[in-house]
Amino acid sequence: MQLLSLLLLAVIFPGGDNEDAFQGPTSYHVIQISQFANSTWAQNQGSGWLDDLQIHGWDSESGTAIFLKPWSKGNFSEEEVIELEELFRVYLIGFIREVQDRASEFHLEYPFLIQGIAGCELHPGKPTVSFLRGALGGLDFLSIKNDSCAPAPEGGSRAQQFCTLISQYQGICDTVAKLLLETCPQYLFGVLDAGKAELQRQVKPEAWLSSGPTPGPGRLLLVCHVSGFHPKPVWAMWMRGEQEQPGTQRGDVLPQADGTWYLRVTLDVAAREAAGLSCRVRHSSLGDQDIVLYWGRPTSIVLITLAIVVPSLILLICLALWHFRRWPYQNIS
Ligand SMILES: *[C@@H]1O[C@H](CO)[C@@H](O)[C@H](O)[C@H]1NC(C)=O
Ligand SMILES: *[C@@H]1O[C@H](CO)[C@@H](O)[C@H](O)[C@H]1NC(C)=O
Ligand SMILES: *[C@@H]1O[C@H](CO)[C@@H](O)[C@H](O)[C@H]1NC(C)=O
Repeated sequence: MQLLSLLLLAVIFPGGDNEDAFQGPTSYHVIQISQFANSTWAQNQGSGWLDDLQIHGWDSESGTAIFLKPWSKGNFSEEEVIELEELFRVYLIGFIREVQDRASEFHLEYPFLIQGIAGCELHPGKPTVSFLRGALGGLDFLSIKNDSCAPAPEGGSRAQQFCTLISQYQGICDTVAKLLLETCPQYLFGVLDAGKAELQRQVKPEAWLSSGPTPGPGRLLLVCHVSGFHPKPVWAMWMRGEQEQPGTQRGDVLPQADGTWYLRVTLDVAAREAAGLSCRVRHSSLGDQDIVLYWGRPTSIVLITLAIVVPSLILLICLALWHFRRWPYQNIS
């Protein structure tokens, strides 16, 4: 049944990202940002991510990892984690020292910024893909292709020089290859399993309509808000009956502080054509019970009125009861 609905989702959501076919994240990567202010001052920032969810930080002062989720260690043992922390600590300190020592050799002018990203990604039915890319001053510098250092065209002769240099350090290359090709996939499978209750949790969206800033005379901007859902893949569309409105503009799916997502889809229409339009929302948490909200349906106003009036009435009644019960006691005492 689950499989069938997944297949259906794949048919219903044509043209969606590859990502839409999965529940939950499919990749792990670490990010390194190293700032070099001058010849004596430099700083590293490190973090670890499952797709766009951060699960690791790095404390540069103590040289230790920060585990942002109770399951951030995946299925790795305490010894393995300590070993990896030690490796990253030595690497990050050594990285800054090497770059500072070789700044003039590589004609690097302070201040400059180095960014790196490395990790691995699952593809269904195919081997895990590992990647590593480095950037200097915001431009691609190098990447790893076919197990070897590949200078990026934007990196110029400096990147070629660097790849030549690094290939002489067989020990470093072997360690990087092991981390990318063995450690990363093992960790990724383990952490996806350890965190699955949270990563694959299903939280239903709430949806509501509003009008946006008027796009022009006689026109309306219909806004459909979809909020608080998990996981990220979602489908929302302005419809007339069963007809999708091709003018629907879909915003980015934005993260919210509680780990759920928010999406806005808008439609610019002539005011007299707004009646009868609806916003339809599909999400894995809803099964086949799509949310459908009609523009200008009085029901929503009635519901809002009820939502305000009913609690007020209850409050009034409670106050009245409290008031009437209180007097007799006071009279007695
Ligand atoms: C190096 O940069 C840091 C941070 O910007 C600054 O505090 C320090 O004074 C600078 N040192 C020199 C020698 O310029
Ligand atoms: C990777 O290596 C294989 C065989 O060694 C070669 O056929 C392929 O073109 C290489 N790919 C890249 C991107 O260099
Ligand atoms: C963690 O899980 C992965 C995949 O299930 C496995 O390959 C790896 O050996 C496990 N690691 C440990 C330390 O148990």
